[in-house]
Amino acid sequence: MAYDKNNPFPARLVDRRRLSSPASQKDTRHFSVSLAGSGLTYKCGDSLGVFPTNNPAAVAALLRAAGFTGDEAVTIPKDPAPIALREAWAKRVALNGPTYKFVQLLHDRATAADQKEALAARLAEADPEKKKAWLEQREFVDLFEEFPSARPSAQEVVELQRKLMPRLYSISSAPSRYPDEIHLTVAVVRYETNGRPREGVCSTYLADRARMEQPDLPIFVAESHFGLPADDNVPVIMVGPGTGVAPFRSFVMDRATRGAKGPNWLFFGDQRKEHDFLYADEWAAYLASGALTRLDTAFSRDQAAKVYVQDRMRENAAELWQWLQQGAYFYVCGDAKRMAKDVDAALHALVSEQGGMTPEAAVEWVKQFKKDGRYQRDVY
Ligand SMILES: Cc1cc2nc3c(=O)[nH]c(=O)nc-3n(C[C@H](O)[C@H](O)[C@H](O)COP(=O)(O)OP(=O)(O)OC[C@H]3O[C@@H](n4cnc5c(N)ncnc54)[C@H](O)[C@@H]3O)c2cc1C
Ligand SMILES: NC(=O)c1ccc[n+]([C@@H]2O[C@H](COP(=O)([O-])OP(=O)(O)OC[C@H]3O[C@@H](n4cnc5c(N)ncnc54)[C@H](OP(=O)(O)O)[C@@H]3O)[C@@H](O)[C@H]2O)c1
Repeated sequence: MAYDKNNPFPARLVDRRRLSSPASQKDTRHFSVSLAGSGLTYKCGDSLGVFPTNNPAAVAALLRAAGFTGDEAVTIPKDPAPIALREAWAKRVALNGPTYKFVQLLHDRATAADQKEALAARLAEADPEKKKAWLEQREFVDLFEEFPSARPSAQEVVELQRKLMPRLYSISSAPSRYPDEIHLTVAVVRYETNGRPREGVCSTYLADRARMEQPDLPIFVAESHFGLPADDNVPVIMVGPGTGVAPFRSFVMDRATRGAKGPNWLFFGDQRKEHDFLYADEWAAYLASGALTRLDTAFSRDQAAKVYVQDRMRENAAELWQWLQQGAYFYVCGDAKRMAKDVDAALHALVSEQGGMTPEAAVEWVKQFKKDGRYQRDVY
């Protein structure tokens, strides 16, 4: 049987350990998933899709807040078979991300006059930023608790909840070394909104709830455009701060395993060297064996002023330009919002300065660089 997104493979989780130290402000973990018996294959640069379930404690809290038993029969849009609300909330829909359609439903069902008024005021808010910010601070459980007089039916609620989607993770192992295993490098998402602790569904599912050694982790391989050059002699430059380092562990492991001759340069960054230097031992071994040609690190919180990977690019601009002139591929992985934008700006500046080009010519140079498939990004 072929396994894919529509028919995920029930895999076994065979390793789970912390990469960041207990004293880190982050919780970054390494996971290994067995592919044995699946027939699944992967290549460097691909991602793994994981179907999570919601935290049972979150389901219980929502049932309590909404006043349901969990036995209420509901149907999920596009699936006519009725299921219990408890199962729908555990496996099928997201418990976060309520929309103003849901606020409208609460308004329509509210029986207490002050709650109806407060909901009407929220719906009428004219400032779009304020309107967005208020709802972003809230999950379904908050709204049920704040407006207890509104009692929509279980079916009405489920129809306004988003489908629980699989999450993608860049694969951090190489198939040449681990044909029957996939490794992941995951930052566990925990934060606070509206004064309450929140957690990311899938990263905490992997960290806290997925069972070890049981064939019940639903996965699929998502192919990517992102990947090593076909020619093993081509130099590669990899920029991967934080969990962005995942595919580059795969790249270097693959080239080392196959004895590829091309030089490999990694830029890695994270908060503190002592607590957040992901896979430090492996990089040291690759440097010693020559599989990794250069490693430049930027630990942002080890000194008063922030230092980021793009600062290391600037410091090594002449050599980086030389590598690019020698045909190097340039890869970026990790945070899309800030890091990838800033690295892109640093690359443009470097091309302009080192290549003696106007900023406009540098833009054209980078465009062509991308078109040639030599500038690849896997950002999220
Ligand atoms: C191609 C690709 C590759 C990826 N590779 C990796 C990888 O290698 N490693 C990795 O760790 N992740 C990776 N990701 C991200 C991953 O898919 C998930 O998005 C991530 O694990 C969060 O999922 P979650 O279910 O735990 O959190 P969710 O339940 O999806 O919650 C995340 C949401 O919580 C909110 N949120 C998060 N932090 C805060 C905050 N501080 N304040 C307010 N709101 C906040 C935001 O709305 C955010 O979208 C990748 C994503 C893609 C698309
Ligand atoms: N799209 C998203 O919502 C998204 C994407 C990626 C990560 N995250 C969140 O961040 C957490 C950890 O992610 P992660 O481990 O992949 O990495 P990360 O925490 O985003 O960052 C790793 C390193 O990059 C630094 N950094 C911050 N801004 C930067 C910039 N503009 N340019 C270059 N480097 C920059 C960080 O420094 P400082 O922190 O010291 O500034 C840190 O040293 C997760 O909990 C995740 O939720 C969210």
